[in-house]
Amino acid sequence: MSTKTPSTEAVDINDPKLSRFEIIREGARRDDIEIVHYEPQFAPGSKAEKRMVRIVAGFFLITGVASLAFLGIFIFWPWEYEFGAYTASKFYTPLLGVTLGIALLGIGFGILTWAKKLLPHEISVQDRHVGTNADEQKLTGETALYMLDELGLKRRPLLKGAIGLGLAPVAVVAAAPLIGGLIKDPHGDERQSMFKTGFNADYNDGKLVRLVREDGSPVRPEDVSAGGQITVFPGISHGATNEWADSPTLLIHLRANDAAKAAEAADADEINKGAYYGPYVAFSKICSHAGCPASLYEQQTNRLLCPCHQSQFLIIDNARPIFGPAHRRLAMLPIEVDAEGFFVAKADYKEAVGPDFWERP
Ligand code: FES
Repeated sequence: MSTKTPSTEAVDINDPKLSRFEIIREGARRDDIEIVHYEPQFAPGSKAEKRMVRIVAGFFLITGVASLAFLGIFIFWPWEYEFGAYTASKFYTPLLGVTLGIALLGIGFGILTWAKKLLPHEISVQDRHVGTNADEQKLTGETALYMLDELGLKRRPLLKGAIGLGLAPVAVVAAAPLIGGLIKDPHGDERQSMFKTGFNADYNDGKLVRLVREDGSPVRPEDVSAGGQITVFPGISHGATNEWADSPTLLIHLRANDAAKAAEAADADEINKGAYYGPYVAFSKICSHAGCPASLYEQQTNRLLCPCHQSQFLIIDNARPIFGPAHRRLAMLPIEVDAEGFFVAKADYKEAVGPDFWERP
């Protein structure tokens, strides 16, 4: 190992005999930076250095393998099937978590080992000053190149390859859930579930879907008193479970005056026109900011409050956001009452529910 100590003499930076380190040291000196200690950890090309490079490359390759495993599980693992006493869904999410965790740990350990074991030990002391001249600009450029050199990518092709092979799948993993959600339906059919909720008649053999309580019992208008509200779910199989996490809805019975204002606002809106049933309105409970359940309904002001970041939505004005970080209104579920007197969804939500993955109107 070698230690380089600072020079106090001015150097001609155009001298072709100068090493890059000497140019950098001169640049630092002119910028009132003194490199007081510089010590590479390994002699370039030594066995020890090569071993360390292999270890770092190994971490990045582990990241690549774990990322590919994540993708394979995400795409091919059946998310629900019988497996002895268990269903596969018990493994699906943990497996995704484990492979993603290993991938991220691989990146973390790779970077840490690289920084700790391959970069030279250097201590510099700097006084800042303003103003540059052409020489100093040249030195700045050299400094950037020098820092890249110090990372050792140029003379360590194994690291370059490992970064490519290891990190490219990570980028794909980041995009996979979104792309997968567009092309793969967890409910096992060709329907685009990101655009549909459990209130879509497609999930009920074409019949209108009832609004039901958590225990599956359907709801009649007289079950909700004026000024009151109730959380309802789609009346389909597992409709009140996480399988249909985008479907929880708040059914509100507005008082007469408020109902008239809400109806006026809804009818003036192209999408929500006629979506209410008398004094009853139904809005998605999934906050349009970050997806928390917005369920604190204040009947005096007709505001619905989301407890996560305090967004407030004005129910009688198409659930328009009036406070907080949410900037898109809550989607309104068009409702009516069926022949047996129970609430049903006239149609699915016409706007995207929850956080605005699309800025659909
Ligand atoms: S999730 Fe509702 S305000 Fe942030």
